[in-house]
Amino acid sequence: MKSLHFSMSPFVFILLLSSSLMASATSADAGDETFLDCISLRSDDSTSISQLIFTPNNSSFSSLLESTARNLRFSTETTPRPLVIVTPSQVSHIQATIHCAQKHGLQIRTRSGGHDFEGLSYVSRAPFVVVDMVRLRSVDIDVENRVAWVQSGAVLGELYYNLANRTNTLAFPAGLCPTVGIGGYLSGGGYGLLFRTYGLAIDNVLDAELVDVNGRVLDRNSMGEELFWAIRGGGGGSFGIVVSWKLRLVPVPPTVTVFTVDRTLGQNATELVHQWQSIAPGLPDEFYNEITITRVANRTIRASFHGYFLGGIDEVVPLMQERFPELGLVRENCAEMSWIESILYMGNLPNESLNILLDRTYQSPLLSPYFKSKSDYVRKPIPRIGLEGLWSNLFEEEGTSASISFISYGGRMAEIPATATPFPHRAGNLYKIVYNSGWEEEENVRSERYMRWMRRVYNYMASYVSKSPRQAYINYRDLDIGINGAGNFTSLAQASVWGRKYFMNNFHRLVRAKTMIDPQNFFRHEQSIPPFSH
Ligand SMILES: Cc1cc2nc3c(=O)[nH]c(=O)nc-3n(C[C@H](O)[C@H](O)[C@H](O)COP(=O)(O)OP(=O)(O)OC[C@H]3O[C@@H](n4cnc5c(N)ncnc54)[C@H](O)[C@@H]3O)c2cc1C
Ligand SMILES: *[C@@H]1O[C@H](CO)[C@@H](O)[C@H](O)[C@H]1NC(C)=O
Ligand SMILES: *[C@@H]1O[C@H](CO)[C@@H](O)[C@H](O)[C@H]1NC(C)=O
Ligand SMILES: *[C@@H]1O[C@H](CO)[C@@H](O)[C@H](O)[C@H]1NC(C)=O
Ligand SMILES: *[C@@H]1O[C@H](CO)[C@@H](O)[C@H](O)[C@H]1NC(C)=O
Ligand SMILES: *[C@@H]1O[C@H](CO)[C@@H](O)[C@H](O)[C@H]1NC(C)=O
Ligand SMILES: *[C@@H]1O[C@H](CO)[C@@H](O)[C@H](O)[C@H]1NC(C)=O
Ligand SMILES: *[C@@H]1O[C@H](CO)[C@@H](O)[C@H](O)[C@H]1NC(C)=O
Repeated sequence: MKSLHFSMSPFVFILLLSSSLMASATSADAGDETFLDCISLRSDDSTSISQLIFTPNNSSFSSLLESTARNLRFSTETTPRPLVIVTPSQVSHIQATIHCAQKHGLQIRTRSGGHDFEGLSYVSRAPFVVVDMVRLRSVDIDVENRVAWVQSGAVLGELYYNLANRTNTLAFPAGLCPTVGIGGYLSGGGYGLLFRTYGLAIDNVLDAELVDVNGRVLDRNSMGEELFWAIRGGGGGSFGIVVSWKLRLVPVPPTVTVFTVDRTLGQNATELVHQWQSIAPGLPDEFYNEITITRVANRTIRASFHGYFLGGIDEVVPLMQERFPELGLVRENCAEMSWIESILYMGNLPNESLNILLDRTYQSPLLSPYFKSKSDYVRKPIPRIGLEGLWSNLFEEEGTSASISFISYGGRMAEIPATATPFPHRAGNLYKIVYNSGWEEEENVRSERYMRWMRRVYNYMASYVSKSPRQAYINYRDLDIGINGAGNFTSLAQASVWGRKYFMNNFHRLVRAKTMIDPQNFFRHEQSIPPFSH
């Protein structure tokens, strides 16, 4: 298989490979060994491992593949599919898959929650195997020592559910969407409601278990501090397969306060957004602040000022009236609840039961099935005229179901050094922008229009946001920001174009860690960290 040339179209290649894989799957001739033979031979119990392996022959192959494919942009007729999906239930299955994939010239894409914005955990142009971590999702919480061991295949909702089951005063600082996977989330940094108080999720990772390209199982001690540094924020899919993570749990008060204040253009939204840019980053660490900006029909722009505070209404209202009187926050805009209730509330989840957190297939009706997202960092306030230009973009037809969020930095984020982890966007950033352009099934024939609109908005914003490099968040993966579109594995020089945007000066340290652990670049994708001399 290795001798086949890549000159034929990837589609034909995959068909050929897949039929030869099928045809010889049952062959006993060792010289003719297939990936499937290899994996059964490596396994102590080949009957049980066959229950964990899916080829297009198995009737559940498609439903498994699509089970966590979050963005329908990557579930089309022409999207390349894996030859095999392996769903390991123990570490030895991961080791066998890594060994056999190398032997048979197949790439590996590891999938935890499948939320990658560019589908890189389940789509590749080269022949590939998906390692789906769905069966490795235990959550072990040690309340007394305030730590938890969580496997990569768990989703954030499962972690939260298990925390709430044990205590109402300990939390983990992670994101709002309950179906995001631990594996990808922690690999790329991970922010959420508590990040101005306790830092990113990676700032609270104490240990991890990784299987490397040689099948070695490494923990923090045996992998060494450089690799342990790299896997906490250097992005998934570059260094090996992380099986589990040890997390530091953080204290939360029994009551937190959430508030929302909506303002339209007629209610001074532009002025308030302008003021927010200088006020929000300086609010106490116990605050999370975000503005969500959307268009209301064809008439106006609505800015929703969301606040989240670790404390009661009696503290938050006077504090906001003092720091941001123009917003006009009153008690009626606020609600008190427990931390776990706030996860449902802020995540717009149905609040009848915590069981929703265990529903790995829950799809928020607020999230379009097709979407394209981008991120930016803002280091000095955008002038009013700049904001007005952004509103004009939203009034274009493609802006109908778009949303733009400003997420305040500052607090603890500004205190952690930019070199502490690969994630470099710390002090000096006022806030992050997340752009989201969504569209529906029936509009998919016109999806290019929405993609183009998103790119126009991004171009428009260039003069108002961080420059040289224009910073971006790795967990909001965006294949546009390199110089070499999707599909090619880039050289080091090419990779440093997106690498500097995601990691700034930390990029070269990531390259050194990669060179140490995977010099032949087995674990790779369109935006994986390249080793030296590749
Ligand atoms: C609806 C939605 C809401 C989001 N909300 C937030 C948020 O609040 N805060 C935030 O920070 N981010 C958020 N994100 C971004 C999210 O953190 C990233 O998309 C993250 O990479 C998803 O992790 P995953 O395991 O679900 O993804 P996957 O698609 O499974 O994986 C993402 C990448 O990591 C690799 N990977 C996955 N598992 C492993 C593993 N075990 N070992 C090594 N590599 C692995 C994959 O190969 C891929 O390259 C959100 C995304 C979506 C779609
Ligand atoms: C797949 O199915 C075909 C026909 O149904 C069969 O001939 C082939 O052996 C199967 N392949 C595997 C790997 O089981
Ligand atoms: C998939 O099909 C093969 C034979 O075609 C079988 O050996 C294997 O057990 C099936 N996998 C599952 C998970 O059912
Ligand atoms: C915690 O989980 C156990 C087992 O699932 C369940 O029996 C118990 O009721 C839960 N406790 C709480 C407080 O939710
Ligand atoms: C809008 O802001 C201006 C200037 O700060 C102020 O005079 C005016 O009263 C505000 N209007 C509303 C509706 O809040
Ligand atoms: C909004 O404006 C567009 C033209 O720009 C028009 O086609 C559409 O019907 C309008 N929608 C509403 C709800 O007024
Ligand atoms: C639950 O949701 C309902 C409907 O949205 C709302 O009226 C109620 O206040 C919510 N309860 C809590 C505790 O948030
Ligand atoms: C990938 O690289 C090849 C040769 O280096 C080039 O011809 C092709 O245009 C590139 N494709 C993309 C999408 O950049």
